[in-house]
Amino acid sequence: MSNLKSFTRGGQTLLHNVRMAEQIFYWILWLGIFSFLSISIVWILIQITAEDRNFIFTWCLAKFFNIFNPNAIVNLKSHGEIYRFTAHYLLNYPNAIRNAHRIFSEVDGILFISFIISITLSCAMAISLCIKGKRFEKSKLISGRYLASKRVVIKAIKSIGKASDIKISDVPIFKGSERNHILINGTTGMGKSEAIRQLLDQIKARGDKAVIYDKNGSFTEHYYNKEEDILLNPLDERCTPWNIWTECQDAADFDQIAASLMPMPAGGNVDPHWIDGARTVFSVSALRMRKDKNKSLKKLLAYLLTAETTQLRALLKNTEAETLVSEKIIKSTLSIKTVLATKLKMLKHIKDNKTEDLFSIRDWISDDTKNNWLFITSKSSKHETLKPLISTWIDIAVNAVMSLEENPDRRVWFILDELTSLHRLPYLMDAFAEIRKFGGCLVPGLQNYFQLQDIYGQNGAKSIVDLCNTRLFFRAPSADSSKWMSREIGQADMLEMREGVSYGANTIRDGVNISTQEVKRPAVSETEIMNLPNFNAILVVSPSIDAKKSSNEKLKDKTIKWPVCKINIACKKRETKAKGYEIAQSLSSKDSLDGLIQYFESVETSAQPENFTPSPDELIEPVQNEFEVKEESDEQVPESHDNQDDAMNIKEVFEL
Ligand SMILES: Nc1ncnc2c1ncn2[C@@H]1O[C@H](COP(=O)(O)OP(=O)(O)OP(=O)(O)O)[C@@H](O)[C@H]1O
Ligand SMILES: [Mg+2]
Repeated sequence: MSNLKSFTRGGQTLLHNVRMAEQIFYWILWLGIFSFLSISIVWILIQITAEDRNFIFTWCLAKFFNIFNPNAIVNLKSHGEIYRFTAHYLLNYPNAIRNAHRIFSEVDGILFISFIISITLSCAMAISLCIKGKRFEKSKLISGRYLASKRVVIKAIKSIGKASDIKISDVPIFKGSERNHILINGTTGMGKSEAIRQLLDQIKARGDKAVIYDKNGSFTEHYYNKEEDILLNPLDERCTPWNIWTECQDAADFDQIAASLMPMPAGGNVDPHWIDGARTVFSVSALRMRKDKNKSLKKLLAYLLTAETTQLRALLKNTEAETLVSEKIIKSTLSIKTVLATKLKMLKHIKDNKTEDLFSIRDWISDDTKNNWLFITSKSSKHETLKPLISTWIDIAVNAVMSLEENPDRRVWFILDELTSLHRLPYLMDAFAEIRKFGGCLVPGLQNYFQLQDIYGQNGAKSIVDLCNTRLFFRAPSADSSKWMSREIGQADMLEMREGVSYGANTIRDGVNISTQEVKRPAVSETEIMNLPNFNAILVVSPSIDAKKSSNEKLKDKTIKWPVCKINIACKKRETKAKGYEIAQSLSSKDSLDGLIQYFESVETSAQPENFTPSPDELIEPVQNEFEVKEESDEQVPESHDNQDDAMNIKEVFEL
């Protein structure tokens, strides 16, 4: 039955198509004939004189009469006179024959050329019908984003403004739009870091300042120059000396560091009271120790984590934090100390340098004459421990840029590859919105948008992505990620043609109807994103019109239909300048890096809690208030790492 239906459907539609094609064919044939005749007639009337036309008419008449009666008389009009000839005489008169040949050869030429013209016209008509028909097959873009070639995107960018010298795989972004941030997103191993390396090459060539978060040391390896650049990583030999007191001028600065070290987790499954309390205790304690000549992180940690609460209470006497460690709320104090213990344990990794020449991120950022780079590195195996400290450093740098004077010519790049490997940076969300005025250019690299949501919450993640104007999307293997990317790339408003065929037993019922419909289609579908080859990405450079030209309607029109393109990230060989990660010297007594790491891990797992309680005599007598700091020259403070043997140092690094 279904075969019979298919047979009928196929036959009916074929016959219908043949009938319709036949109609068009005859229509074109008639058009050809009509054009041939009209062209020939008009041309003959113009080209052949009236006398010649008259002669040809008489000649043709004589030919006709000659068939039946050669002596029939024909009248030839020439020069106003009428001559009478027999048909036979005229047809054999030499001058008449010559004249007839001349005129006929002229007419033959006209007919031949008219024929060629009418054939050409008919073919042109057939081709134009095909083109018109094809147009009905295609959908028409009304507005929105569409996928085009790199050349089209470059042309579009150049047509509405100046192209920047910063390029992503040869496609320039808009001049100055690096301050509107660049998002790089895609699954692992797709070439995100390679795309960032391309950017770093250009940032270096420009001489811009940069803060680079380098989780695995892969950027440090190629770009770190130990003569000029700064590296922060307590487990790295090249770490520049730093401590919290060099960064903080007043209570607000300590509060900021406290907020970065102890972020409020997204999701709200932790009581914010304990985190707020821990932040206050940390901030006030650090502020109190500011004027202590022998202040050290170790001493601060001893107060906060291991000393008797009475010692801490004495340190915080007469401050807003005193009630938080009051003997009346022992349980609350314990909860706050628990938060402090878990969030601050990594501070123990920082060497307590006594040198005066400590590095300050704020000072470095505020010095516009410096264009060296700050590398904040980590190591996968120790990343979880270092994460709060690294996040704090980045937060300080971001906040420092936002404290500068506004300057449209300044550029401070923040390369945040694998942003989601850091914890929530409290100042980062503000930075995405505001840092452009101060010259900050953020380049977040993400493997997965949903990880960002986990850390910054749904709205936070949305606003971060929303504030990145240039976007690079690599392959996303999952349906959710690819759908999200496809939505972020944008969609096109299309006018789509729909063709319907109807048929019936009577030919009157046969017909084709064509209708148009406005639909929205993604510029790049989720399937296309899922199937992007390795090292290929969709680049979205959002249009940006100069404010001075914003009233130009023609320019605005150009952005109504905006192209995005597919690019290939070429892998470039770069020289290795330095090791990505150099183990701290105090830990270098072991033979090989692998051996050391194994050793650290064994120490880490075997560390017992009772080992890390400092003896009470390691603590100083607490000061009464900030302005009455004792000169503690002969006090007993915990010894610095520098003075202990290597084995002890290794042990301490992993004690907490
Ligand atoms: N165009 C390319 N052609 C060939 N190999 C490439 C290309 N781009 C990058 N690679 C190589 O592919 C590997 C992965 O690239 P890359 O580190 O840039 O990926 P990624 O997206 O950053 O991955 P992850 O999310 O794991 O960090 C690297 O070894 C890199 O050298
Ligand atoms: Mg990478």
